[in-house]
Amino acid sequence: MRKLLIINGPNINMLGIREPGIYGSETYADLMERIVRACAEHGFECTCFQSNHEGAIVDEIQRALGRFDGIVINPAAYTHTSIAIADALRAVNLPAVEVHLSDIDSREDYRKISYTKEACIGTIAGLGPAGYEQAIAFLREHFERVF
Ligand code: DQA
Repeated sequence: MRKLLIINGPNINMLGIREPGIYGSETYADLMERIVRACAEHGFECTCFQSNHEGAIVDEIQRALGRFDGIVINPAAYTHTSIAIADALRAVNLPAVEVHLSDIDSREDYRKISYTKEACIGTIAGLGPAGYEQAIAFLREHFERVF
């Protein structure tokens, strides 16, 4: 069975509490349930990782090499700043899909730049938690196309 690593960056653990007008009322625990269910439906095993620390996310991406087949990542605020996370994604060269709960292109200008996007095979933004399900489905289709 193929394995996905699901990575969530800073403040995603605060879902349900943080800015519900933007990020909704679903909690991080609800999101994890949704992801585990979607992975099972699409025939993936999954491991979920969340950190508020850039280096910890880089470490986790590096550790994915040889252990996972693909990555779903919401780098959160690091999307707009982290060349290190983008480089780690390029280094391991696993198919990765970037997810954002909100539509980053229709928010502040500083959210319009994504360094990590260029290291991913797809980006899904603005669909709320359902975006993670779309990303998992996207990776399934990717594997069906490629293998
Ligand atoms: C986010 C968008 C980022 O700009 C923000 O810093 C986040 C969450 C999203 O999922 O919409 O923390 O990645």
